Amino acid sequence: MNVKLLNNYQDLLNPIHSFLLCKTPKQWIEQAADPEKLPLLLTDHLHCELKAAQSAGLLLRRYVVDNETSKQILEWLEPYETRVYRGHLLNSDDALTHENNKKNQQVPRLQLENGEAWQHELLNRMVLLMKEELHHFDQVFSIIEANNIELQPTTAARYAAGMLRHIRGSEVGGLVDKLIIGGIIEARSCERFAALVPHLPESIARFYVSLLRSEARHFEDYLTLAQMVAREDIQARTQEFLRIEKKLIESPDKVLRFHSGPVM
Ligand SMILES: [Fe+2]
Ligand SMILES: [Fe+2]
Repeated sequence: MNVKLLNNYQDLLNPIHSFLLCKTPKQWIEQAADPEKLPLLLTDHLHCELKAAQSAGLLLRRYVVDNETSKQILEWLEPYETRVYRGHLLNSDDALTHENNKKNQQVPRLQLENGEAWQHELLNRMVLLMKEELHHFDQVFSIIEANNIELQPTTAARYAAGMLRHIRGSEVGGLVDKLIIGGIIEARSCERFAALVPHLPESIARFYVSLLRSEARHFEDYLTLAQMVAREDIQARTQEFLRIEKKLIESPDKVLRFHSGPVM
């Protein structure tokens, strides 16, 4: 039924499918779409949105901004982190504070006085990305609340760590690798949202469709930035990471997560 929801998105999904070296295995889709797994899937998804914003913040803090701006980024993220890590402990008073927090959360005006062209570009694109990921976070959080799902602490998937451990040690090489990995994670998220759409309850399927456009743009943002920073063509390096990613996606995994392989 929900397949129709994807009709207008093929133009957006084609580049994603031709970029990644494999599609999500059927077995993973069956496991993740099991209604009993919905609380786990949504909780892990919530963590992924936060991690996406945190990773972008980390890149800005490490490679672009000064200490004062770095502090502003941490303050921006803090209320979201509190909600995830204390989410399962919220009582009604806390819930009220959390509503007020939500209203007061403003995007800081992050400025860069000097800096190279790629640093300005990184700042502009990553601030927008953080804003969007945190908005997704709010949306997933609302769905979790609406479904009376209790937030449970979850362990991270092997996925991101499995790519990050291949990062080069050099300053430029390391940044380029992180940006390539960022692009791959965004592309896979987009592919998975679309793969799940036909199998999810309609309201959640509609929400996942609504995420496709921004995740596809994030994928392009990361690769554009990687090419801006790199002193050589990033094609070969991108292919190396894509091969590592394919292995992580297709090989049996121990735990089911949004970015895991199928559990055997
Ligand atoms: Fe997102
Ligand atoms: Fe994203």
